[in-house]
Amino acid sequence: MKKSVNSHCSLNIILICVAMTILLCSPIVACAQTVLTGNPPVPETNSVRGLKDYYKNFFPIGVSVSPASLAGAESDLIRKNFSSLSAENVMKSGLIHPQENSYAWDNADRIVDFAQQNGLLIRGHTLCWHKQTPTWLFKDQEGKPVTKEVLLARLKEHIQTVVSRYKGKIYAWDVVNEAIDDNDSVFLRGSDWYKIGGEEFIADAFKWAREADPKALLFYNDYNTESPAKRAKIFKVLKRLKEAGVPVDGIGLQGHWDLTTPTEKTLRESIEKFSSLGLQVQVTELDVSVYSPAEKDPSNHQFTTEREQRQMEQYKMIFRVLREYKKEITGVTFWNVSDRSSWLDNFPVRGRKNYPLLFDQQLHPKKAFWEVVKF
Ligand code: GLA
Repeated sequence: MKKSVNSHCSLNIILICVAMTILLCSPIVACAQTVLTGNPPVPETNSVRGLKDYYKNFFPIGVSVSPASLAGAESDLIRKNFSSLSAENVMKSGLIHPQENSYAWDNADRIVDFAQQNGLLIRGHTLCWHKQTPTWLFKDQEGKPVTKEVLLARLKEHIQTVVSRYKGKIYAWDVVNEAIDDNDSVFLRGSDWYKIGGEEFIADAFKWAREADPKALLFYNDYNTESPAKRAKIFKVLKRLKEAGVPVDGIGLQGHWDLTTPTEKTLRESIEKFSSLGLQVQVTELDVSVYSPAEKDPSNHQFTTEREQRQMEQYKMIFRVLREYKKEITGVTFWNVSDRSSWLDNFPVRGRKNYPLLFDQQLHPKKAFWEVVKF
């Protein structure tokens, strides 16, 4: 009898335990938790964490956008995955300053407003570049080249107007973009800026930007920063600027990379060399083309398993290295949102589809995405 009372009790205890387990895992308890803590229970699954969340202890993860990406599914993807925005085009001088005496702010304002409403950082891109410039910039009313004084005065007015408008909102500016030549035997690019303005246009641009917003971080931005010859020239310019007390805070490695460039070695060398000057390093325009520079056949444009695999390995290596240098790297920005549309669909081969980003054409994370967040 005693034995049967005991076994009856143990059965009751087991049943109570089972019932409590079921109850604790049930939605009713989840609701009760919400009431008690004020927060909905957030399931720790990959589907609720965006790229930026995996990297929150490393660096902000940014993306370049057009105003059109700020609505619909793309905007959801942006909010979930990124903590910083760059304007792909609309802050370039040709678009934001189409006539000498008039600015077109609307599109740039939309990006800045969206970033502010969603708590995102903003990188300004770009104040002084030889491309996407307005037609009036380098010419006088008769169509002749302006003098050095006129050009530098125009640059000053442009920089001060644009930087002042977004003072306190844009935390970092690409002040000068691509001023170094690609040809090993030429130092500075023979752009109109250089031909008319002389070498000092670079230092002046930084000084005027600092005057307009003393708190904004100021970057020199360029591509092929992992090619030893070009890197040496960029280093030389930045070293001169630093020694002359010019307010340059960082170098933007554009990061238009591919399946073989950069190598781990050249990437490490660039980060170490530029940061040895006391500069912050950011990757400002990241994408990984699935074609090598030698491939030019427009009909060969499939995202094959082999390309997918190699791109995944390349992204994995790049982010492993960037994480390792988290003290030096203060931001990583992708150039475009997803494989739906990239400038590489038309460069260097017009009309050849590329697949350079971490999200596919359906806006789903690619295999490369899962490698980048696996650490
Ligand atoms: C350069 C510029 C960017 C963009 C890309 C190509 O890297 O800095 O603004 O125009 O070329 O799209």
